[in-house]
Amino acid sequence: MASGSRNPIILNPLAKEPWRFLSSADDRARAFHQSMPGYSLTPLVSMPQIAAEVGVGAVHVKYEGDRMGLPSFKILGASWATFCAVASYLKLPLNSSLTVNNLRDVLTGWASSHSQKPTLVAATDGNHGRAVAYMGRILGLPVKVFVPGGLDNDAVQAIVNEGAAVARVRGSYDLTVNLAFNVAKNMLGGILVQDTSFPGYTDVPEWVVEGYDTMLSEIDEQLENQSQPADLIIVPVGVGSLAQAVVTHYRSLGVGTKVLTVEPDTAACLYTNLRGDVAGQKPVPLETTGPTIMAGLDCGTVSLCAWNLLNAAVDACLSVSDHEAHSACGILKTHGVAAGPCGAASLAALLRLGDKEKKDLGLGNTSVVVLLCTEGERQYSVPAAGLATY
Ligand SMILES: Cc1ncc(COP(=O)(O)O)c(C=O)c1O
Repeated sequence: MASGSRNPIILNPLAKEPWRFLSSADDRARAFHQSMPGYSLTPLVSMPQIAAEVGVGAVHVKYEGDRMGLPSFKILGASWATFCAVASYLKLPLNSSLTVNNLRDVLTGWASSHSQKPTLVAATDGNHGRAVAYMGRILGLPVKVFVPGGLDNDAVQAIVNEGAAVARVRGSYDLTVNLAFNVAKNMLGGILVQDTSFPGYTDVPEWVVEGYDTMLSEIDEQLENQSQPADLIIVPVGVGSLAQAVVTHYRSLGVGTKVLTVEPDTAACLYTNLRGDVAGQKPVPLETTGPTIMAGLDCGTVSLCAWNLLNAAVDACLSVSDHEAHSACGILKTHGVAAGPCGAASLAALLRLGDKEKKDLGLGNTSVVVLLCTEGERQYSVPAAGLATY
């Protein structure tokens, strides 16, 4: 795409059908999170000035910059998925009597009769790997994290500080996931805790998605006293597992909340597949053209399970430039919310909506919009002003 033109919003014609998702999800993940050290509800911050500027009734920002002491929502998925994957490796039933503490005790006993403990393996653009490393520390398990070569040193150091061994891979995020999968498969006791699904690997990423639901149930409770559910929720997308959780949640409730996704211009894999730019069996992997300051969203392949749901259920998608994400960080900051670029991408998407797009999404002056601000403030190189060329 040439500089000066923008990816227009895509409305998904399939999403118009008012079907309801019959979710088999229960509250186990939420109960598990509530038993984790440092768990508390993250804030839902109202932004009346932004709502007035955009012409809607309310804008609320779900702020995930401090989730159990970590700077993003990713620990919700990584913790529950690690817990389930390790329990399943040890053939322990996932009932309410199994807690993080007694899983750690079982692992300690298990290690005395086995030559080595299982190893958690993950690939990451930063936040997921850090969260898996955190879980490894809590459970007393070794962790090996693979990162794409271009990941910044601060993100790598944050994973190392959790006690994990980190290996840089010469290549993209997709390649890194592939390598982590093969390493875990060939390692004695290797457990891959990945937040994306692909053929032959779906159980763990489905647990990740279940874990993300905690954030969405919290929002329901936080909005309850406003007696109006969200009309629109805006979700940043990397591989789409978070969006899968969002769509699953709202389609199960049947409240008619619309879902708009946002990706970096340079890694718009859901957008490209939904727009139908690519032929073949979907989701077709995309060559990302980054780097982008939205590091957690720098992914070229939509998670298989996510795609199977999103392609018929996401209402609209959009992509934004680094510059837009950066200026959205600045706006949020002036309203007291210290967001990183992935988190601010939701606001960048909202600010891109013109009158027609708002009408198409059913937004009016009493509508309630929720922005998922998925990460807290972090260092990045400030992009040059203007539109991205890619
Ligand atoms: C901060 C942040 N926001 C959003 C996402 C997107 O989540 P998903 O990859 O499930 O689409 C990620 C993914 O790593 C992330 O780190």
